[in-house]
Amino acid sequence: MKYIVQPGGSVRGKLRVPGDKSISHRSIMFGSLAEGITEVSGFLEGEDSLATLKAFKAMGVDIKGPETGRVVIHGVGLYGLKKPEKALDLGNSGTSMRLMSGILAAQDFDSELTGDSSLSKRPMNRVALPLTQMGAVIETAEGGRPPMKIKGGHRLKGIHYDMPVASAQVKSCLLLAGLYADGETTVTEPAVTRDHTERMLEGFSYPSLQKNASTVKVKSGGKLTACKIDVPADISSAAFFMVAASIAANADITLEHVGINPTRTGVIDILRLMGADISVSNERVIGGEPVGDIRVKSANLQGIEIPEELVPLAIDEFPVIFVAAACAEGKTILTGAEELRVKESDRIQAMVDGLVTLGVEATATPDGAVIIGGELGGGEIESHDDHRIAMSFVVAGLRAGAPLTINDCDNVATSFPGFVEMACAAGICVIAEDGL
Ligand code: S3P
Repeated sequence: MKYIVQPGGSVRGKLRVPGDKSISHRSIMFGSLAEGITEVSGFLEGEDSLATLKAFKAMGVDIKGPETGRVVIHGVGLYGLKKPEKALDLGNSGTSMRLMSGILAAQDFDSELTGDSSLSKRPMNRVALPLTQMGAVIETAEGGRPPMKIKGGHRLKGIHYDMPVASAQVKSCLLLAGLYADGETTVTEPAVTRDHTERMLEGFSYPSLQKNASTVKVKSGGKLTACKIDVPADISSAAFFMVAASIAANADITLEHVGINPTRTGVIDILRLMGADISVSNERVIGGEPVGDIRVKSANLQGIEIPEELVPLAIDEFPVIFVAAACAEGKTILTGAEELRVKESDRIQAMVDGLVTLGVEATATPDGAVIIGGELGGGEIESHDDHRIAMSFVVAGLRAGAPLTINDCDNVATSFPGFVEMACAAGICVIAEDGL
C-alpha cells in the first residue's frame, strides 16, 4: 500500500489515538500469567499487540476479544502455559519476541519464535546472552537473529545484569525470567527506560519488586493476581499529531487520554525545547499510569542540540522529531541515538534519505543526524516497511511544496490502525492506494 499526500492542510480538533502498544503487549502477557480474570480496555488492536495475543492463545490461554478495545484474559498462572503446536509467528513485533523469550526460557516445553523479514534482521543476542547466563538454552540464527529456538526444562537462576544498552525490552525480558529464576534477578539500566513492566508487576500485586534509581529487583516464588487495565492512548502515536500541529499553520489540536508516564514524555520535552506550544491538562493516574490531555498549537520551531538524556525517553518518536527539525529554523543535532539503527528499519538512514529526497539538508552520523531546517519539496519516499517512517512523512506533507508518495505503508497497521482516517479527519490530505 502507498500513501499519497497532498501538500498543505492543517490540524484541528480533538482526537483519541489508539491504545499504548507497550502496555497492550504487557497486559496480555501479565494477564495470561496471572491467577484470575484480567479485563483490559483501550487495548491496541494493531498487528503487533494482536501477535502477542495470538501467541498466548496458542499456548492455551483463553482470551476473549478484542472487541472495541476490550479483552478478557483467563489467566493460567505462572506455570499454566501449554506447549504451542507450532512456531509462534510474532510478525513485525520486536517487543513480543524479546519479552516473550524471557517467559519461554523458563517453561518446561520447547518453543520457537519467528517473525517477518524486518524482525528477522533484528538483534536478539541482547536478550539471548543474559538469558543464557541465567541458565536458558537458546539457539538463534547467524548473528543472533531470529528465529529463536528456546529449549524447555532448564531451571533458571537469578543474576545481576548491567545492561550495555538502555533497553526496556531487555530489562522487561529479564524481569519476566526473574519471576521463575532461583533467587534474585536484578537489572541495572545505563539510562532511564520505560517502566511499564515494573508498574504492571505492582498492578498485578507481585510481591518483592524493589526499585531504586537505576536498578530493579525481583524474586521468584510470588504470584501475579488478575486486575483491571485501562490502556491509555499511545504517546508514540500522539507524537505524529503533536509535530503535525506544531509545523502546520493555524493548528490547534487536543489529544485526549494520552499516557504521560515520565519515562515516555521525551517528545514533549524535546518539542518544547524547540519552541513548541504544548500544554498538558486534566492530569490523572489511571491503573498506575499517568494520563493527560495534550493540546498543541502552531509554533515557530527552532533547531536545537537534543540532550542525550532525553534520547531513551523519546526513542520511538525520533522519525517524527526529524520532521520537526526539518521544519525548524536552524540546525538540529541528534547524538547518542545509535539504537535507532536497529529498530523496524535503520531509522537514521531512512529518515535522512527521505528528507534529502524532499530537498532538506540532512546528514546521517553513526549515532544520530544533523538536520538544517528549510523548505520541503515533494517526491517519492521509501518507508522501508517501517510504520513510523511512513507516518512521519505523512506529517511532513503539511509543509511540502509538492505531493508525496510514500511506499510500503502496510505496516502502519502494526501500531496505528485507522491512521489515515484519523489524519484526514484532523485535516491532513492523505489517501491510501492499494496494490500499486
Ligand atoms: C519497547 C521498548 C523500546 C521501544 C519499543 C517498545 C517496550 O525498545 O523502542 O517500541 O515496549 O519495552 P528498546 O527496549 O529496544 O529500546
